[in-house]
Amino acid sequence: MKIVVLTGAGISAESGIATFRDSDGLWEGYDPMEVATPEAFEADPALVHRFYDERRRALEAAQPNAAHLALARLEAAIGDDLYLVTQNVDDLHERAGSARVHHMHGELRSAWCTACDDRHVWHDPLGHEPACPSCEGSHLRPDIVWFGEVPYGMEVIEAALHEADLFVAIGTSAVVYPAAAFVHWARGRTLELNLDESAASEDFTQSRRGPATELVPAWVDEVLAGLPRD
Ligand code: APR
Repeated sequence: MKIVVLTGAGISAESGIATFRDSDGLWEGYDPMEVATPEAFEADPALVHRFYDERRRALEAAQPNAAHLALARLEAAIGDDLYLVTQNVDDLHERAGSARVHHMHGELRSAWCTACDDRHVWHDPLGHEPACPSCEGSHLRPDIVWFGEVPYGMEVIEAALHEADLFVAIGTSAVVYPAAAFVHWARGRTLELNLDESAASEDFTQSRRGPATELVPAWVDEVLAGLPRD
């Protein structure tokens, strides 16, 4: 059975990573148009770097939770039959043990040189404009897909959705496109695992309400119980 799983900020909420649109979310404290667009970076790179340096540092204190661990367990059981795409820029899926994670909105732990186009694994701040390891220039930006930019690997995601027997959305409000459209592109059944009603809940075959750390392990157990005994 081919499964595509899309995760959003809600899967990392119980790890202490702020979501965007919940009451204490990131967009309460910052205007996305001032910190998450190419124009904002052009206008005030220091503010944009501060926003992402803060979130990169917060990663160090966060730990993967039971939902991330359950998805890693699912990957270990079904391998390439699972396609995990995340809107999140944290590294909690990887730290939970997932080996194949498609970060469609980029990653906090990656820096992108706008001079030579190289990308580098990056754990430190970028605010002091460090030199690019490849070209020595000081033109590194957060490797994050900002509003107005094209998410990474859309054709691969679309192909996976067209082949999937099941599409599962976890912890996303379904208000940002193109991810919000995935439920419509999915060929097979669709399942939503979310704390609250999302903008797309009615479009899913089934929508379950609750915290990811309860819903995701229970769903993974269901999938694994249904697998043919080898
Ligand atoms: N368990 C499950 N779901 C949760 C939990 C939890 N513990 N906590 C919150 N949620 C749900 C909320 O109900 C909400 O529907 O997670 C969703 C979080 O929604 P958003 O904050 O909008 O995050 P997301 O959907 O990932 O945002 C998508 O918007 O700003 C852009 O690029 C940014 O990737 C982000 C995109």
